Amino acid sequence: PLIKELFGLTQLEAELAAYLGVRQVIVVPGDADESDWVKKELGRAGARLLKQVSIPDQIVAVAGGSTIYAVAEMMMPTPALKMTTFVPTRGGLGEAVELEANYIASLMAKKTGGKYRLMHVPEQLSEESYQTLIREPHIREVLDCLRRARIVIHGVGDAKKMAIRRKSPPEVLKKLEESGAVGESFGYYFNRQGEIVHRVQTVGLQLQELTRVEKMIAVAGGASKAEAISSICSILSRDTLITDEGAARAILQKV
Ligand code: G3H
Repeated sequence: PLIKELFGLTQLEAELAAYLGVRQVIVVPGDADESDWVKKELGRAGARLLKQVSIPDQIVAVAGGSTIYAVAEMMMPTPALKMTTFVPTRGGLGEAVELEANYIASLMAKKTGGKYRLMHVPEQLSEESYQTLIREPHIREVLDCLRRARIVIHGVGDAKKMAIRRKSPPEVLKKLEESGAVGESFGYYFNRQGEIVHRVQTVGLQLQELTRVEKMIAVAGGASKAEAISSICSILSRDTLITDEGAARAILQKV
């Protein structure tokens, strides 16, 4: 807290929370676009918060990306986390294995001594295979677990960057461009007004199911994600946003 006062971050947190309409905002110093240690600090803040809010026998739904990976890296065993089950929010989205929700959920379980479930489904499914897969008993069981999640922790990406990172086909890139997509979170793409303009067809948590979740935690930093973070906040991150100074100042246009 003292160090935050020194950097004037407490004030920034309050301003950003009011501006975005988010209950709690945590701002770490620096800009993740400029240095790797800032992403590690985002990870540390995410791990600390998870530890604070966790209770035994809960289910935590975990999304993919390098920021949530950083959270997993910083996690440690605590009594409540040892009795937690980590479940990936979605099946494959076409990312490198270390950035997939499956891998990160298993890493969180490994770091904390908790349990995990995996979603063994291929990425970017056709409608037909999707319908078949969600009827598979094993998949249904994991989906059921996901629906009972108490906490969801997810990253936020710049729409175009994410579509390229996932090697989305040209028609998808075009659709995103035309629909004004700016932000992305676990496979959903949002425009500036916070409306969903596209989603990756894969098995997993559906946005309409999120109303039952007790705590949504978004972790995303770097000035380049300012627009993306603003676009998802009206829907996804009503509770908590963990970000950095770079993104916070860019959102508030205090640069
Ligand atoms: O869905 C959002 C992205 O996975 C965020 O990825 O944390 O690597 O920027 P990132």
